[in-house]
Amino acid sequence: MNTAAIALEAELKVSIMAESLIGSEIIKLAGEINEKIRNGEKIYNLTIGDFNPKLFPIPALLKKEIIAAYTNDETNYPPADGILQLRQVLSSQLKNRMKLDYPADQILIAGGARPLIYATFQAIVDSGDKVLFPVPSWNNNHYSHLSSTQQLAVETKPENNFMPTADELRPYIGEANLLALCSPLNPTGTVFTEAGLKEICELILSENKKRVAKGSKPLYLMYDQIYWTLTFGNTLHFDPVSICPEMKQYTVFIDGLSKSFAATGVRVGWAFGPKKLIDKMKAILGHVGAWAPKPEQVASANYMKHENEVDSFLVEIKGKISSRLDAIYKGVILLKNEGYPINAIPPQAALYLTVQLNLVGAKTMDGNILSNSKEVNKYILDEAKIGIVPFSAFGSSSDSTWYRISVGTCTLEEIPQLVSNLKNALRKLQF
Ligand SMILES: Cc1ncc(COP(=O)(O)O)c(C=O)c1O
Repeated sequence: MNTAAIALEAELKVSIMAESLIGSEIIKLAGEINEKIRNGEKIYNLTIGDFNPKLFPIPALLKKEIIAAYTNDETNYPPADGILQLRQVLSSQLKNRMKLDYPADQILIAGGARPLIYATFQAIVDSGDKVLFPVPSWNNNHYSHLSSTQQLAVETKPENNFMPTADELRPYIGEANLLALCSPLNPTGTVFTEAGLKEICELILSENKKRVAKGSKPLYLMYDQIYWTLTFGNTLHFDPVSICPEMKQYTVFIDGLSKSFAATGVRVGWAFGPKKLIDKMKAILGHVGAWAPKPEQVASANYMKHENEVDSFLVEIKGKISSRLDAIYKGVILLKNEGYPINAIPPQAALYLTVQLNLVGAKTMDGNILSNSKEVNKYILDEAKIGIVPFSAFGSSSDSTWYRISVGTCTLEEIPQLVSNLKNALRKLQF
């Protein structure tokens, strides 16, 4: 296209929602990193919440079943809520693994977790409604924007491992229509404690008593537990319905294959919750056509019914992820103990390590002062050759000193070099 045509197109009016939609901050950052890699620099790219499939392949049996499903011509439309066989396997796994009772007709399959989150918002909130969520958190701002809702973002604290508390949410509970929570949390890799989550459930239940008495729409909870199988050491996963069974009528769970099985490109996710909501979400996604591909659904059902295979895969992947997280954590703490102004939260779950870099105000070798988290991020990328994501990209305030490190693309062997690069970059700063 010539420049005049490009300029003309830029003037075209589109919807206000589309015009003001912002892209993923992390993908933007990854673009800059890829540019450096293309220019021949060796960069440790720890920005993306994804896996390198060469280091983290999907389960061999799942791969075999996907190929078999195509060979067997499982290539027509799947049912709108997903194939029954998969929903039945998931129903029985929910019972076995989480002691949750959800029949197949309260489970909805889609092309990964994202369409299900979109459908949850669409089924619950009207334009102008309010969505309450903690920050840092993943993409709640974008899903709120897509549904033209108002965002009530509550900044959480490092001393609570960045998990929201009932006290922090209480001031907004009365005006919110949807509360979006996630545990284990992206970006922090931390989880709710049982007591912490219970207090939040009690807050929702007491709010809903008032709303039901008035006949108004209840406050729903979207509980994204897509990382729940990836907990390490003594860390346990808690969910609202096991803790407070009355929460069942207000809770939509989000889950999927993507993270547990390193299958981000396979695109199979599921939601489960109250039948009425699940049916509405099914109707919404039916029009969008956001089904998981049928061969992948057939393969997932055939794979997941082998509980022993699933268990041994989970043990393996958890070992691989936690050894990487532990190694980086230990490296950061070593540097902290040497006096550098950095810190980290011990890894609990997911693919992520939460690291603090208290570097704003530091002077670089060429006399520049690092004045915000973006500049710190750039300094670490340029000097240490490490790409990480500032919590400000997850909605935290721009002066947040915390960053996400994701380990799905790094090898254990390269971690000592990575830590040594970080040390060299820190050594060059004047505090
Ligand atoms: C908390 C959380 N939920 C959902 C997703 C999206 O999952 P999917 O790839 O299955 O759409 C992500 C992806 O990064 C995530 O971090």
